[in-house]
Amino acid sequence: MNPVAAYRVDAIDPALRRSGRFDAEIEVTVPNEDDRFQILKLYTKMIPLDPVLDLKSIAALCNGYVGADLEALCREATMYAIKRSSNTKDASNFSLTMEDWKHARSVVGPSITRGVTVEIPKVTWEDIGGLKELKKKVQQAVEWPIKHSAAFSRMGISPVRGILLHGPPGCSKTTLAKAAAHAAQASFFSLSGAELYSMYVGEGEALLRKTFQRARLAAPSIIFFDEADVVAAKRGDSSSNSATVGERLLSTLLTEIDGLEEAKGILVLAATNRPYAIDAALMRPGRFDLVLYVPPPDLEARHEILCVHTRKMKTGNDVDLRRIAEDTELFTGAELEGLCKEAGIVALREDISAAVVCDRHFQIAKSSLKPALTKSEIDSYSSFMKTSSRALPGHFEAGLKPDKSKKNRLDPFSLVKIGVVSCLLLAAAAAAAEYYIMYGDQIVHDIAT
Ligand SMILES: Nc1ncnc2c1ncn2[C@@H]1O[C@H](COP(=O)(O)OP(=O)(O)O)[C@@H](O)[C@H]1O
Ligand SMILES: [Mg+2]
Repeated sequence: MNPVAAYRVDAIDPALRRSGRFDAEIEVTVPNEDDRFQILKLYTKMIPLDPVLDLKSIAALCNGYVGADLEALCREATMYAIKRSSNTKDASNFSLTMEDWKHARSVVGPSITRGVTVEIPKVTWEDIGGLKELKKKVQQAVEWPIKHSAAFSRMGISPVRGILLHGPPGCSKTTLAKAAAHAAQASFFSLSGAELYSMYVGEGEALLRKTFQRARLAAPSIIFFDEADVVAAKRGDSSSNSATVGERLLSTLLTEIDGLEEAKGILVLAATNRPYAIDAALMRPGRFDLVLYVPPPDLEARHEILCVHTRKMKTGNDVDLRRIAEDTELFTGAELEGLCKEAGIVALREDISAAVVCDRHFQIAKSSLKPALTKSEIDSYSSFMKTSSRALPGHFEAGLKPDKSKKNRLDPFSLVKIGVVSCLLLAAAAAAAEYYIMYGDQIVHDIAT
């Protein structure tokens, strides 16, 4: 028997892979949670562990780590613990605590994801004010397939493959995606248009394919496209005959998303403030199953956002965040964050040793800021789902209030209204045409003279 190991199995000549030569092919995949637990147990056999330490939970946190990474993790944690105990001069009860593992995890990452931009977001759901319903829906769509995959296979349904977040800029689309990745403890791959538009032909597509391949290996993972309108721009706008970079990227993206059928635990998240610019092929169910509108904050949400961004700030007794929220209509989350920051700077400008931000600082800051959004802009942002022909998928709408889903369909009353209005328009057009036929010559004559 001749066992062989290969990393790139496709590079092996097919003649070698036929039966009679290498009859059996065994794929050695990335260890799953249970495997990781076993590996960690093996490597920590000789190391004293803190009795309250739960190796299982560490194994759960180490998505995408292969055996070698776990070994490095154990080494790093032990080194850190040794350093720590030598500092305290109490070497007698040396043991690995959760803190050591946390430190080690911040130093040793999964090697599969090296080279592809991976940023581990530290944003939590609590950092996002308002948007309760939306947060719940994103949470369900992202976390359920990863945490309750057995339930999905029991029900015979496939989880959501892609989520598109759209809405005005500064309303926490990017933050939502990061919070989702953080909460799901999934490997996070972030791709931006700038990385994908390479000066070399084919490099962007290669990066895209590589990212999907690594995401499959490091599953469960989330692939995030920020400003997705650049990557997935509508086709056919260009006048040249050859396919543009954008078109080639889009077709690669479409094939990769369709290829996800087999892969469990990969979710494609995209955010954009120009949903109209995204190719329609991506918007069909099976690709971006869930298209969610992230609205600008209402009064309650503005209050919560102000609370979030003044958490670390010492505010005076006279600061009434609710009143500020009432005064800041049309402000987005980003602008409210800016307002809090500006208020702090105003306070410092007044007195560099100041420790408390008072109401007058907020007022001064507010007078210098103006919301960038207007009512009509918000209407045009929110109208995307209503005008697009695509209906909302049903299975994640359970948590949504009924009024929202109704808005997307036309009720009989508005159909009648549309009918009446179009009849009136037709009649007016007919009258105008008749008038023109009767007096057209005369008008032309009048104009000429
Ligand atoms: N609902 C919110 N709660 C807390 N912070 C928010 C909220 N919306 C926006 N922000 C703040 O605004 C900034 C920009 O948000 P971001 O998610 O990048 O917006 P978008 O991607 O929609 O343009 C973030 O740093 C975030 O802290
Ligand atoms: Mg963004």
